[in-house]
Amino acid sequence: MATLVTGGAGYIGSHTVVELQQINQDVVILDNLSNSSKAVLKRIESITNKAVTFVEGDILDTELLHSLFKQYQFDSVIHFAGLKAVGESNEIPLHYYKNNVYGTLNLCEVMAQHSVKNLVFSSSATVYGDPETVPIKESFPTSATNPYGRSKLMVEEMLADLYRSDPSWNIALLRYFNPIGAHESGTIGEAPNGIPNNLMPYITQVAVGKLKQLSVFGNDYNTIDGTGVRDYIHVVDLAHGHLKALEKLNSQPGLVTYNLGTGQGYSVLQMINSFEKATGQAIPYQISARRAGDIAECYADPQFANQELNWTATKSLVEMMEDSWRWQQNNPNGYQ
Ligand code: NAD
Ligand code: UFG
Repeated sequence: MATLVTGGAGYIGSHTVVELQQINQDVVILDNLSNSSKAVLKRIESITNKAVTFVEGDILDTELLHSLFKQYQFDSVIHFAGLKAVGESNEIPLHYYKNNVYGTLNLCEVMAQHSVKNLVFSSSATVYGDPETVPIKESFPTSATNPYGRSKLMVEEMLADLYRSDPSWNIALLRYFNPIGAHESGTIGEAPNGIPNNLMPYITQVAVGKLKQLSVFGNDYNTIDGTGVRDYIHVVDLAHGHLKALEKLNSQPGLVTYNLGTGQGYSVLQMINSFEKATGQAIPYQISARRAGDIAECYADPQFANQELNWTATKSLVEMMEDSWRWQQNNPNGYQ
């Protein structure tokens, strides 16, 4: 039996494939390489000493999906494939809905036809919108403020309907907080195209000299020092959460939703300070205007995942900083 990993060449997917291979799970990656590079495959192999089975293709390609489900004995699917840039989703919303919502619908139809009904879906803390209080529990109300977030919410709702219509499905909706860090080998990591949108790759690109200085988006939020607070989680801890979710699906829980976060929030200034301390690199920054759509504070109550999955994030902020930096230093131009 094998696990199909859509989007397995991407940032979180590649780290999850490593962890799956290391527990001797057979994996097939399906990725259209729209936001990743084939070079990651050799890197995964160099870590695990195992061959990677890779299919270049699209979750929108129904025929391809059927042929894959015929060729391999899948018992589960981890579905990472999706577009994730919030700003871009405002500019090309239909592309986001087609890729993220229709792509998932297409995948689920094919899964159903081949009686593969165990699915782990990459959702996001963005589905909590601007929460009234923190820490955030899974039971909090959901909302979205941009097409990317709405695509995640739509998929969550579609999967809930699917489960209601056919309770033989087992579906884990994993709401990730802010993944950062990289594999400790420094060989795989996050490789954003162009200028990064997210804080951590921006910081490491300033440190390596690719960017001049960081703009801190707002210092007038109602937080510890006025800058935005997020729950940063090491990508390898996140990857382990997927292994635990797969295990859970084998016990036939039905539809389950988990926050994958650490439960600890850090401000932008705390992140800069922590990076500087961990790496000895200075990060020049300036305070600039708030970024449209940003919220003040977002961090998880991870207790439900801790209890139900027997999973906890174990890596410290220092490890996140060191591993992000090692990856950036070894690969100043990502996988190129
Ligand atoms: P990523 O872009 O690195 O990985 C996604 C992968 O999916 C890429 O390799 C891309 O080429 C592939 N892909 C996209 N559309 C595809 C399609 N139609 N068919 C086949 N492959 C396709 O992103 P990531 O950070 O690894 O995120 C993985 C998932 O987790 C995404 O669904 C994302 O929305 C979600 N997520 C990410 C974050 C984050 O901050 N990184 C937070 C919450 C949720
Ligand atoms: N920030 C800066 N300067 C930058 C980039 C970010 O000050 O150059 C600040 C932001 O204002 C925010 C914090 O750093 O306060 C984190 O920003 P990120 O862009 O790294 O992360 P977000 O929390 O805004 O968004 C991320 C993903 C979304 C996802 C969300 C919740 O990008 O896709 O986490 O999971 F929806």
